[in-house]
Order: sequence, then structure tokens, then C-alpha cells
Amino acid sequence: MNVMEHPVFRRFWYPVMPLSHLEAGPRRFVLLGEPLVLFLDADGVPAALEDRCCHRSAQLSLGDVCQGRVACPYHGWQYDRTGQCVHVPQMPDRDPGPKRRVRAFHCDTRYGYAWVALEDPIYRIPAIPEAGEPDFELIQEFYEEWKVAGLRVMENELDMAHPSYVHLGTFGSPEHLVARDAHIEEFDGGFHYTGRLGVTQAHHAQEDANERFLDCSWFAPFVCRLRINYADGGPAHVIVNCQVPIDHGRSQVVQFCLQQDDGGGFDREALLAFDRKVTLEDKHVLESTDPDMPLDPRGEKHMESDKPGLVIRRMMERLIDEHESVASV
Ligand code: FES
Ligand SMILES: [Fe+2]
Repeated sequence: MNVMEHPVFRRFWYPVMPLSHLEAGPRRFVLLGEPLVLFLDADGVPAALEDRCCHRSAQLSLGDVCQGRVACPYHGWQYDRTGQCVHVPQMPDRDPGPKRRVRAFHCDTRYGYAWVALEDPIYRIPAIPEAGEPDFELIQEFYEEWKVAGLRVMENELDMAHPSYVHLGTFGSPEHLVARDAHIEEFDGGFHYTGRLGVTQAHHAQEDANERFLDCSWFAPFVCRLRINYADGGPAHVIVNCQVPIDHGRSQVVQFCLQQDDGGGFDREALLAFDRKVTLEDKHVLESTDPDMPLDPRGEKHMESDKPGLVIRRMMERLIDEHESVASV
């Protein structure tokens, strides 16, 4: 499956950029092959426009932000968050008119990121319940490009058979090859997954624990929330992994976590270092996988523990069918 061949992917929200990256000026991001310029308007709210000036096609992301408008680096035309050109410095007394404009895209803020949907989104930005709980702290972890298809990472997040091989250097246990009590409950646009997985080394805060209690959610297409608790009842660690599709086979990895503080505090550096090591273990294998992940289950061989990945494929196939057949009527 190639995300570039399915217009339905334009109808989801993606966390394309940390808000902090926009403080110094406009920035470029290519989402599903669509070059965007992101900038903060006069209220500090992010906006997303096509990154191509309607005058002589220069990249707006090379310009500046002036009073909440993005100013082209070539001749200084200024655009507001709706994409309307509102100022042409060479004709200061003339209204630029409605034809001088560029395309604007849905843009919103959540979890410290500017989220963009290229067309009317089918679902809302995924709700992460811990983000609203006072005893959880949101920590930005990773923002980097991987040569991988987003769906490969999504099924990896919920594939409990890989830690015994991929994560032997961190938490994977050779004795616990699959999760116990795995259960999936579907909802419109995703599913909840629960299960228990034996591990050799638990989270830094709970080194004596040896079983992870997993409470996860997958939100179509590329957001996965993993809540990890241990048998000793210590603080929860919630990882939110998002894959932002750049094009076929390239994704921007966006990961943040929510760490519960039950009063004992936590070692932020140790937490980040542990999650980094785990993530690099995944990257090594995932970048070797074929980005052309078949949605048809007959396209690859499976085993029982692959159920979450198979549900992801089935739900994505249905979303593509539903929304693309409507679009073609
Ligand atoms: S190309 Fe943008 S103002 Fe001329
Ligand atoms: Fe992994």
C-alpha cells in the first residue's frame, strides 16, 4: 500500500511540527508530497499554507513572519492564515484582491504540535486521556525522519512478539515470546488493545517489576498510544507514537510520552535515554521492511500474535474503500 496513491490519507490529522520550531519563523514540511509552510499567526496559533508564492513561486518558508503573516522572501508579498495575500509592498495603496492567494489547510494545536489535515478530516485529533490529568507530565521525545511506512511502525507498536528479539538490549525477555490475555476492542476509527507481557527489565522507575500491563489505543491511520503499568502499581508511562507520512516510504517520527509522577519524582534523563534506546532498536529493523505493506492479509504470512496488525490492515482497507468509493461517485 502506497499512501501517495490513496487520497483518503489527506483526510486525517497529523502532528507535523513541534510548536517550538515555529518560534523563530516559518518552516517547511512536506506532507504526503504536499510542500507546506507553517507559521504562527498574530495570536500565536499555527497556520499551514502551500509553500509556493502565487507571484513567482518562491518558497514562503524561506521568508519571515510579519505581524502574524508570512512574508515571501522574493518580493515581500504577505499572506494571512487563510492564504489571502493582504499586502504587496510595491503597491501599498492597492487591495491585492481575492485572486492573489495560496491554498490553506486545516491546522490546529495539540500536545505541543501543529497538527495539519490537507482536506476535511474524517476524525478528530486523537484524544490522549493522560494529557489532561494533573499527575502526568508531557515530555517531547523524538522528531525525526525514518525511511519507513507509517503502518509498519503502527503494527510494530502493538506486536508483542518482537520484543523477545528486537529489544533484548533493553526490556525484551527471551522467555516471554508473546503477550498473555491479549484483547482487542474496536471503535470507529481505531481500537483498544490490552494484554500482559513478561519483560526482563522494566521501566527505570520500577526495575523490580517483570510484567508489563499494556493498555493501548490505535487511532487510524498513524497514532498509537501505549500505556505501560507494572504489577507493583508504580507510576504509569504512556508513549504516544505518531507517524507523519512524508511520501511513500518516508515518515516523520513524532513521539512524546506522558510520565506519571506519583509523588516520588522521576529521572527525566534516564527515561529519555531508555526510550531512545528502545526506539533505535525498532528503527534498525523497521527501516529494513518493505514500505509497500499489503492490506490484503494474503499478501504476507502471519501468526496468532499478529492480530492487532491484521485488524489495522482490515480497518484501513475499509476506510480506503468507504471514502475513496464515495469520492469517485
Ligand atoms: S515570488 Fe513571492 S513575492 Fe514575488
Ligand atoms: Fe519495538
